[in-house]
Amino acid sequence: MITVADNGAFCLQGKDYTYAMYVNDSGFLQHAYYGKKIEVADLEYLIGHICSKFAPTKGGLNYDMQFDNMPSECGFYAHGDYREPSVIIERSDGAAMSRLRYVSHKVYGGAPTLAGLPHARKGGDTLAVTLKDDFSDATVILNYTVYDDLNVLVRNAQIVNVGKEEFTLKKAFSFCVDLPDSEFDIMRLCGRWAAERTPVTSPIKYGITRLQSLRGSSSHKINPFAAFLRANCAEESGECYGVQLMYSGSFALTAESSADGSLRIQGGVNDTAFGWTLRAGESFTSPQAALCYSDGGTGKMSRHYADFLRECVIDPRYVYKKRPIVVNNWEATYFDFDNEKLFPIIDEAAKLGIDTFVLDDGWFGKRDSDTSGLGDWTVNEKKLKGGLKTVIDRCKKHGLKFGLWFEPEMISEDSDLYRAHPDWAIGKDGVQPCRGRNQLVLDLTRSDVVDHIFAAVSDVLANNDISYVKWDFNRDLTEMFSRKLDRQGEFAHRYMLGVYSLAERLTTAFPDVFFEGCAGGGGRFDAGMLYYFPQIWTSDDTDAYERAKIQWGTSMCYPVSAMSCHVSACPNHQTGRTVSIDTRGAIASLGATGYELDLSKMTDDEKSAVKAQIGRYGAIAELVLKGDLYRLCDPFDGNWFCVMLVAKDKNQAYVVGERIHAVPCDLIKTIKLAGLDADKTYAIDGTDIVASGRALMTAGIVLPMLGDFGSFTWKLKQIENDK
Ligand code: DGJ
Repeated sequence: MITVADNGAFCLQGKDYTYAMYVNDSGFLQHAYYGKKIEVADLEYLIGHICSKFAPTKGGLNYDMQFDNMPSECGFYAHGDYREPSVIIERSDGAAMSRLRYVSHKVYGGAPTLAGLPHARKGGDTLAVTLKDDFSDATVILNYTVYDDLNVLVRNAQIVNVGKEEFTLKKAFSFCVDLPDSEFDIMRLCGRWAAERTPVTSPIKYGITRLQSLRGSSSHKINPFAAFLRANCAEESGECYGVQLMYSGSFALTAESSADGSLRIQGGVNDTAFGWTLRAGESFTSPQAALCYSDGGTGKMSRHYADFLRECVIDPRYVYKKRPIVVNNWEATYFDFDNEKLFPIIDEAAKLGIDTFVLDDGWFGKRDSDTSGLGDWTVNEKKLKGGLKTVIDRCKKHGLKFGLWFEPEMISEDSDLYRAHPDWAIGKDGVQPCRGRNQLVLDLTRSDVVDHIFAAVSDVLANNDISYVKWDFNRDLTEMFSRKLDRQGEFAHRYMLGVYSLAERLTTAFPDVFFEGCAGGGGRFDAGMLYYFPQIWTSDDTDAYERAKIQWGTSMCYPVSAMSCHVSACPNHQTGRTVSIDTRGAIASLGATGYELDLSKMTDDEKSAVKAQIGRYGAIAELVLKGDLYRLCDPFDGNWFCVMLVAKDKNQAYVVGERIHAVPCDLIKTIKLAGLDADKTYAIDGTDIVASGRALMTAGIVLPMLGDFGSFTWKLKQIENDK
């Protein structure tokens, strides 16, 4: 709900939070409050309270550089606010100072549609506040979308050239919020290939904490997400704020603690070497940011984000639809396959209850290794005699669907495409390009390149019975330069706009094809990609211990249904570790499950285990798609990993635990379940436990003593004899 109070204050109320701001007497939009829900009338004393202490207000604009303390909704540059600005507007003479003041606002039902960018698909209600720069012809429209039934506030900014002279944006962040104090720890999700999204928390200190990617992707190294935790914040208690960008390219999120103790949190498209020119009438739309307040710890924040992403971002055609259970041939064969190697996997898949066979990298062009072929999306008949049709027919014979891997954004120098269009690769003549995985990146800032890829991929999809696409991206961008672009400061963002446009066109043209995102594992796991692809390959690390940690971190701000999780062979290809097939299955069941191994080489016992896993997964698939996640034992902090999923109606739940190392005479470990209905009675499958939700959540359950990487899965079902 959005209320514009009599005194001019804007009061935004989501399900359990309130966000308030107001226009002070001098026309500056000041932040007033963000936190637990309070009534509009209760807020009145805050309006003017903060400004009288700090900011220029009474007495018009006769002020003395006091903006440095003004809690602002959009920081301006070179005019008395020495904190990091949110926008920098550089005119042709180099002047860049600005002073943004309120002009008008409007409130409407729904959410803004951001053409070309991923965005919240529905409102809510939206408040759009227009600020005007006193020193240039720029206006900044700040959009705020709230939902009565969700705890996420969606923000972005649109900068418009309302004059005649062009100017260049040197920075155009999506949001800025100035909180009155800095007494927070900041949690970021960082890591590297095969170890993505480890939660790392540190205190906020004076100065700027900047989380950023300059890689042209949101990256393996740092996710476009941060959480700000109060000292009392734990997994299920205390306060925290989350910020998440709906963006997949180079980004920045900053937290600036100032001398007065206040904290400016902001972020958006990375401003390093950024420059976006706006001619008369043109505008720049920044990506959306999803802000979240939780008074129930990081666990509640994660559930808020999961609800928001499922309800408002992920494609409604697929978000709650049963996901295909795939077998993917990558770790079974790598590049070395032909029909004879694939057919036994397909034949076995059908017997085990798998429903889709996904043919990974290596099916096209001259692709016998990672040194060649990217860009040539025509089948390699030397490997696949009879073309894709033969493989698809084999699948169909067994009632299996067929999926195919693409890496649309890339080009190998050893490819027909490169030989025909060397200038389509990103780079500058005379500068030796860095290669990543022996490949170059296509220049998706160019519409002719995007058109070509669209046509080439469409041709394969239109002429073959393909129901699933895995869209990979195996290297980051380096020499960010387009031979066709006049203004290279626009390159990084224009590249992302090209990716989004290609994804939009392909998912629209092929509505029956299910798209999975991937980026050398989890290098582009973000809300921007989730807008187009309902699930993303979480990591190339499929070791059931390492994966449990990666999935734990990823769940901080993404729903488990967005995580693609496969059982792979042991010894594991990434770690060399051997973990039982049961534990591998248990961890892979906490997401969109699948298999990534040569099924035909499994023992009979393993095959039976897989068959049983697929059967059990059927019974918990709805919980994965729609349930609430509770994290119970942190694998980064102890010898156990344990999480549970609870149905919204609290009639069912699913608990998965993994003990990391066997310890002789180990201490007793009791877990208290969470999220159940205290008054309902639950039976736990596979045990003789029948108990009330209250007992399970207060007295808890003693965990079984298991060996190294041993696991358990419990299905809880409400039984009828409750009150
Ligand atoms: C990286 C992906 O994460 C893998 O699953 C596989 O598809 C390879 N790329 C193929 O090159």
